[in-house]
Amino acid sequence: MVKVTLKDGVYWVGVIDWNIRDFHGYVTNRGSTYNAYLIQDEKTALIDTVKKEFSDELIQKITELTSFDSIDYIVVNHVEMDHSSSLPIIAKLAKNAKIIASVRGKEALIDHYGSDFDRVETVKTGDELKVGKKTLRFVEAPMLHWPDSMFTYLVEDKILMPNDAFGQHLASSKRFDDEVDEHVLMEEAAIYYANILMPLAPLITRKIQEVIQMGIPIEMIAPSHGIIWRKDPMKIVNSYMNWSAGAAKNKVVVVFDTMWHSTDTMARAIADGIANQGVEVKLLKLRSSPNSEAVTEILDAKAVLVGSPTLNNQMFPTLSSFLTYITGLKPKGKLWGFFGSYGWGGGAVRNMIETAKKAGFDVYEPGVEVKYVPDGEDLKKCFEFGQQIAQKIKA
Ligand code: FEO
Repeated sequence: MVKVTLKDGVYWVGVIDWNIRDFHGYVTNRGSTYNAYLIQDEKTALIDTVKKEFSDELIQKITELTSFDSIDYIVVNHVEMDHSSSLPIIAKLAKNAKIIASVRGKEALIDHYGSDFDRVETVKTGDELKVGKKTLRFVEAPMLHWPDSMFTYLVEDKILMPNDAFGQHLASSKRFDDEVDEHVLMEEAAIYYANILMPLAPLITRKIQEVIQMGIPIEMIAPSHGIIWRKDPMKIVNSYMNWSAGAAKNKVVVVFDTMWHSTDTMARAIADGIANQGVEVKLLKLRSSPNSEAVTEILDAKAVLVGSPTLNNQMFPTLSSFLTYITGLKPKGKLWGFFGSYGWGGGAVRNMIETAKKAGFDVYEPGVEVKYVPDGEDLKKCFEFGQQIAQKIKA
């Protein structure tokens, strides 16, 4: 197997999950990787492990570099099972290794894998571990994105290993940012941020500022998913700062579903009204586009318009799923509008507005409702609704 070297004595021993297409509901069209790293100096340290189904491949990669008896430390930056579920197997093989995690990491390891993990040694921000000429420094990163999350920084090599942060679900035979298409890389980084880290925006801003204030130089960022940033690691750091600050452009996303094309027709008339004002618009029909794609489009949009037909006095189930997903992700600073069609009692638009207000969203009222099939007058109202939203975000 080809040895992947980050710097002398620092190796990638991760695995590529080419075929994963659903990462707990997030559609991963380009697969993913689970990155683990082996550091060889006077002592040997393994940073993170991989998903259990790939444990044989991890074992093979480690064996090509060293013997399991030689591993002195296993650092667990994060306990979510895509990174830790092969740990019980690896820990049995590396019987001399001390396992290192944050305090919350130790608790989570015991909760996941039982009392064998009582032996985990805990570290906190600023603690260091000398492994020879190289030094590992730990930075706790609680809620980025689990309570246990921690970054490991290789002091002399200036490599930050921030686990999930700065990752992408991107399977590739290439490992570094200067080897892959930059557009694809940044697209996947944005999808990843939107679907995993968006609700943590204030924490992200604070953590990045904290790391900058620590004055630690970063020459490489080696996350736990996807491509390693070595050409320009600050590119992804700056992108995270912009996304976390809610940077958005004059763009409206129209997310809708439809039963007999009435809401579809309304969505198109609204989109025409938006475009008429020179504002970019994207239409996404749920059932054709997954929630994770809609959320990614919303990341850099100033407004979101949501359309649903009424089914049994409720919003359509796909819209219910979308609103559950998006309210959990807590997008900040967007303007929200609602529209839809009904046959007799109505309910979809009212229910969606109630849901959005409960989530604290900035709702533009009233929404637009059409009985049965929109006529010319109704479509004029939809067009004007689109125009009003576009004018409001341009103001
Ligand atoms: Fe990639 Fe939070 O696990």
